[in-house]
Amino acid sequence: MSALPPIGLDPQAVLAELDDLRGGDADRRQEDWTKRAFMHAFDAGETVRAVGAEAHARFLDTSGLGGAVYPSIARMEAELIAAVGTLLGAPDGFRGRIAPGGSEAVVLAARAARNHARVVRGLAGPLEILAPETVHPSFAKAADLLGMTLVKVATTDSLAADPSAMTEAVSARTALVVASAPTYWHGIWDDAAALGRLAAKRDIWFHVDACMGGFLAPFARRAGTTVLDFDLSVPGVTSVTADFHKYGYAPKAATALLIRDVERDRFADFDLADGRSGYATPTIAATRSGGPIAAAWAVMRHLGEDGYLRLARQVIGAHGELVKGISGINGLEIWGAPRLCILSFGSTEIDIAAVAAGLRARGWHPNAYGEPAAIHLRLSPAHAESVPAFLVDLEAVVDDVRAGRQAPDEARAGY
Ligand SMILES: Cc1ncc(COP(=O)(O)O)c(C=O)c1O
Repeated sequence: MSALPPIGLDPQAVLAELDDLRGGDADRRQEDWTKRAFMHAFDAGETVRAVGAEAHARFLDTSGLGGAVYPSIARMEAELIAAVGTLLGAPDGFRGRIAPGGSEAVVLAARAARNHARVVRGLAGPLEILAPETVHPSFAKAADLLGMTLVKVATTDSLAADPSAMTEAVSARTALVVASAPTYWHGIWDDAAALGRLAAKRDIWFHVDACMGGFLAPFARRAGTTVLDFDLSVPGVTSVTADFHKYGYAPKAATALLIRDVERDRFADFDLADGRSGYATPTIAATRSGGPIAAAWAVMRHLGEDGYLRLARQVIGAHGELVKGISGINGLEIWGAPRLCILSFGSTEIDIAAVAAGLRARGWHPNAYGEPAAIHLRLSPAHAESVPAFLVDLEAVVDDVRAGRQAPDEARAGY
């Protein structure tokens, strides 16, 4: 469409056009796609999808802005925050809010840290975010938006945050220290306990980005898997983010930002306080649909603890099998020691872009990225069924690449 139709179309005609547009998209509704896609998935099956979609539709026209007009949204948001607080070790008196996505929640946390550093610690001038080099790119976006500098610190050889190097890199301008639980790229859990000590000693805001693992780790533990401590139960952790739309299996996009206490939580608010407008908002977006909040609420109520535990077992099991299988394929190398849900692998012997092309040719959807090149896999519960077939194809593709039968394709590495 390059201009509005001169005469509006019949609803059925418009919906048919939408179906046509959708025809070229990846489709989570096709079971095979969720088993074969290692990106944009986080799918818990048809029933969970239907519960989320129905709740979203019922609350589509509500606004998360007006608690007075839509008390249902305010109530669901408060209940979700309370439930996430229980999962993530929040102390009495913690506060939380729901942002429309992980990147926005990260920006909110960084802004709160910056304002805290200015007001409480009396820092002035351009302030710094201190993070391991594996931190998610949304922190670069936060630094850009907030006039801060992102100081990236080299990791250990196993790609985890290096607490000694981070300590050395602390400056008089450090407003925020960051750890990941786990890292987006490699699925590595940073040592939040060590970084918490570093931050607490200097009264620096410490944010743990658990956008990826926040809803998985508590259930992984219940399933008997050891996970490094990462949440608000860790001394020194000031705030945590967790995405409902990843391992919470809710529709996109909703992210919980939890802050340790009310004193620090107020630094995440924006209140124009002009005495006229009443413009006081908990997120960057002012008007935001209540749909994703209602959908997250409905999915969490539907899945319950037993549902999340079952799904966590599937994800962790598939991840373990993949790590073992890929480690056994000559020429491939897993990066670091990934845990639970994500991994990246590359090769010093063969062209990994050609491996990605071969996997695509066999109907898989890996994510290729990076310098050096790597294949990045994020797991969904459905992979519990498809990992054996994936490993068979991967081994065959590696043979093809070695034998010169498989070249890279046109697909570009990307986020
Ligand atoms: C660790 C981590 N942080 C932040 C984000 C940003 O989340 P969103 O894509 O919802 O903005 C992601 C997204 O994958 C992530 O994995």
